[in-house]
Amino acid sequence: MAKLRIRTYGDPVLRQKSAPVRTVDAELRRLARAMGEAMYEHRGVGLAAPQVGIHKRLIVVDVEWVKKEGDGEKSETGKRNLRVYVNPEVTWESAEDDSMSEGCLSVPGVEGEVYRPRKIRLKHLSLAGLSHEEEMDGMLARCIQHEIDHLDGVLFVDRMPFLKRARIAGALNRLKKDTLAGAAPAAKSAAAL
Ligand code: NI
Repeated sequence: MAKLRIRTYGDPVLRQKSAPVRTVDAELRRLARAMGEAMYEHRGVGLAAPQVGIHKRLIVVDVEWVKKEGDGEKSETGKRNLRVYVNPEVTWESAEDDSMSEGCLSVPGVEGEVYRPRKIRLKHLSLAGLSHEEEMDGMLARCIQHEIDHLDGVLFVDRMPFLKRARIAGALNRLKKDTLAGAAPAAKSAAAL
């Protein structure tokens, strides 16, 4: 499979809703593998198919392979554990929220606090085509909610409180201009999900 290009803020593909996967086949497994490679290459911890311009409900996540240092830099732990979720769907969420600073491979250079439910129950298909349901919390729950948003055309900046969003409006406008001019910067360490 050709190398995948990560789309950035301003690209209309990020605003399109993705369709459920009908068949888990070899082609989908190849796509998941290629998405994992793109995610690791850009030092991300999660990636959703629409971020590479493919509108299928497929996400990949690995919240263990990088850890964040105090100054925001990340270091590799060396252990890779790529999790793949097909047609992920939140069937329950806790009333209790958590706030955490998020970034996104599609919104390089921008980070911000987002409130999300602390715990979720997730229903999904595995790459073997089997149905699973599990409860999760912490970084994994956070990351999966961020990725499912991508499947619905929603970005984390949409969920930032109004005043905080106003503060990043300039950066978003610049990024949009660069994206439309084909000159958006490649995501590196600041991005995460
Ligand atoms: Ni993202």
